[in-house]
Amino acid sequence: MKIAQFSRTGFIMAAAGSAVGLGNIWKFPYMTGEYGGGAFVLVYLITIFFVGFSVMVAEMLIGALGRRDTVGSFERLAPPDKKGWKYAGFMGFNGLIIMTFYSIVIGWIFYYLFKLLETLPDSTDAAKKTFDNLVTNEAGIQIFWHTVATLIVTYIVYRGIKRGIEKINLILMPALMVILFGMLVYAFNLEGFSKAFSFMFEPDWSRLDSEAIVRAIGHSFFTLSLGMGAIMTYAASLPKNASITKTALIVTLMDTLIALVAGLVIYTFLFQEGSPPTQGPGLVFISLPVVLSNLGYLGTFLALLFFLALSFAGLTSAISLVEPVVQYFIDKFDTTRLKAVFTAGLLYYIVGIGALLSYTNRWGEVFSIGGKPLFDILEYTTDSILLPVGGLLIAIFAGYILQKERVRAALEHEMGKTFFNLWYFSIRYVAPIALVFMMLNLMGVLKI
Ligand code: PHE
Repeated sequence: MKIAQFSRTGFIMAAAGSAVGLGNIWKFPYMTGEYGGGAFVLVYLITIFFVGFSVMVAEMLIGALGRRDTVGSFERLAPPDKKGWKYAGFMGFNGLIIMTFYSIVIGWIFYYLFKLLETLPDSTDAAKKTFDNLVTNEAGIQIFWHTVATLIVTYIVYRGIKRGIEKINLILMPALMVILFGMLVYAFNLEGFSKAFSFMFEPDWSRLDSEAIVRAIGHSFFTLSLGMGAIMTYAASLPKNASITKTALIVTLMDTLIALVAGLVIYTFLFQEGSPPTQGPGLVFISLPVVLSNLGYLGTFLALLFFLALSFAGLTSAISLVEPVVQYFIDKFDTTRLKAVFTAGLLYYIVGIGALLSYTNRWGEVFSIGGKPLFDILEYTTDSILLPVGGLLIAIFAGYILQKERVRAALEHEMGKTFFNLWYFSIRYVAPIALVFMMLNLMGVLKI
């Protein structure tokens, strides 16, 4: 099966489009709020640069050398006596699990885009009511927007690497950056900016418990799209003249920058109005619109821009969550793209309905396990367990299973000798140790 190739810029934009997502603009700010600000941000930054970046290089390398779907790439690259490694390729299915809640959130964003055109809520109470009502009472509306999101995402994936994924990323990613940086310039001139800056960059160590550490490490994988084969699948379409190291670096920097900018913008608006940072997943849906309502038409305009950027970020990541399984179906069952997309879409669409119902008053209990809504279980399991496990497998495969000479031949000419040795050390020792440490911590958090 021949896989299409991206252009060089197309690949960078697609990988960045995957990385920059709801994780950056929706999740990162509310997690920073919940886990106390600066100290959380610092753990997140350290993991990104010392673990995330190395794992991203490894993940791209496996895709670029394997040139297949995730299962096929692991199988092809594993030595003859270690073919069992192909099962690691099933990490691609994590994408569908993520999509079960990701698509719901994209649906909320679409709903808000329409809603905000009418009016912005003028008090936190009113805003909370709108959001809570949507999530706990309006199953029908949510299913409608979840359906719209699913149709858009699956259609783009159906159009394939060149005409779908590359094309949409080349348009939406620059648009997203223009909007966010424009908002940053605006926020910079507000009083709340300096408070936002201190909140995000002055660590308060007393707030950092083991749960915060686990969540920060987990989130650094989530935000870089690591550990589930999205980057690997895209890298199977890497143009031959592209540099893995450079691309991974650009993507890591862009992703981090955008998360920090989004955080600064949101917190500036919040602190400007004295709103608390601890709103949980409703943060951008509740506090932000209220704050912006004080600005009249300008506020409506800013809110629209913000939710537009959020929807762009969500869509470009969503397609990368679906593509690995689609590629797997195509390679494995020699089926058409249409059938592969339909099957993958249907799988997450149905479970997604369960996830959204788990927040409703009416069905909440049916779709909860041990008092925890399915939505939360899916989210927690993917970013705190499945992605780090996927990352660990990738690190072990690149560091111990692939022959060193082969890895060196692929990377040393890009990195130079010293940097290559550092990277190799990181992938063999730093990344696995950090990930195992995180899992041990996680067991403590879960009290296993
Ligand atoms: N990185 C995306 C985000 O930040 C989510 C994602 C995770 C996408 C894993 C692909 C793979 O929202």
